[in-house]
Amino acid sequence: MNTMSTMDAMNRTAAGTMRASGTVLSIRELGHVFIAKDGTARKVLDGLTLEIGAGEIASIVGRSGAGKTTLFNLISGLLRPSAGRIEIGDPGTGATGFVAYMLQKDLLLPWRTVLQNALLGVELRGAVTEEHRASAETMLARYGLGAHLGAYPAALSGGQRQRVALTRTLLTAPTILLLDEPFSALDYETRLMLEDDVLALRADRGISIILVTHDIEEAIALGDRVVVLGGQPGKIIEDISVVLTTAGRRDAVSAREAPEFRAYHRRIWAALRGGA
Ligand SMILES: Nc1ncnc2c1ncn2[C@@H]1O[C@H](COP(=O)(O)OP(=O)(O)OP(=O)(O)O)[C@@H](O)[C@H]1O
Ligand SMILES: [Mg+2]
Repeated sequence: MNTMSTMDAMNRTAAGTMRASGTVLSIRELGHVFIAKDGTARKVLDGLTLEIGAGEIASIVGRSGAGKTTLFNLISGLLRPSAGRIEIGDPGTGATGFVAYMLQKDLLLPWRTVLQNALLGVELRGAVTEEHRASAETMLARYGLGAHLGAYPAALSGGQRQRVALTRTLLTAPTILLLDEPFSALDYETRLMLEDDVLALRADRGISIILVTHDIEEAIALGDRVVVLGGQPGKIIEDISVVLTTAGRRDAVSAREAPEFRAYHRRIWAALRGGA
């Protein structure tokens, strides 16, 4: 291979290129306080400001209890913030957005088949059309579940269940996808495959993704940036833009083989230790 073709085969992905097309989520000075039954207040998040660009993948890492799930509950509207603002959509263009939230537990209904579970999200938002059904079947087939449409969740592996849950979330056509430790219970191989699914989602549909994970490698492999939450109350202690040089398109394995990977790992680990 000559130098030119080696250069051609190299691919650098950076957050900057992804964010050019606008903002889909803007969080300003967000704070949250939980009030316990005995009336004592506990401030969990404080002064958190974060912007997510269209088609961007942001990974969030932070120790247990740092407020990651609380942040997702606030973004998705399950909780009302005690302070600050969350805007979904692009204030510049007036474009609106829709957030889909995939919880850590896949929460498939055991009495519904794979196809019926996949359609649950759209069903809850209104009537299921033939088009929904067709897209569900196409997506499930792409995830290797084409032969299991009529199967029940009990007959599926952990990875297959997560893919049904992901299909259910994606059929609602979100602008922003929130993934809270979606792959933590899975074996390494399945995890790498699902990471590739997430990267493909961004590439094919331009969807913006926020991924909460305890796995630093996963955070780097998928993220255009890695946001480190820390402190008590939790705030952003580092926001690191990830630029990886990969042979060909970035995927779960090529990202881990990038020459910059270890240095990012060290930096994030240091931030996590420092901000505990
Ligand atoms: N409903 C609630 N009422 C009171 N305190 C809460 C509530 N939900 C969460 N907390 C507290 O807020 C803090 C942040 O919780 P959160 O679930 O957001 O953490 P996390 O970063 O997602 O942790 P993990 O990595 O373990 O999932 C924790 O100390 C938790 O005990
Ligand atoms: Mg959590």
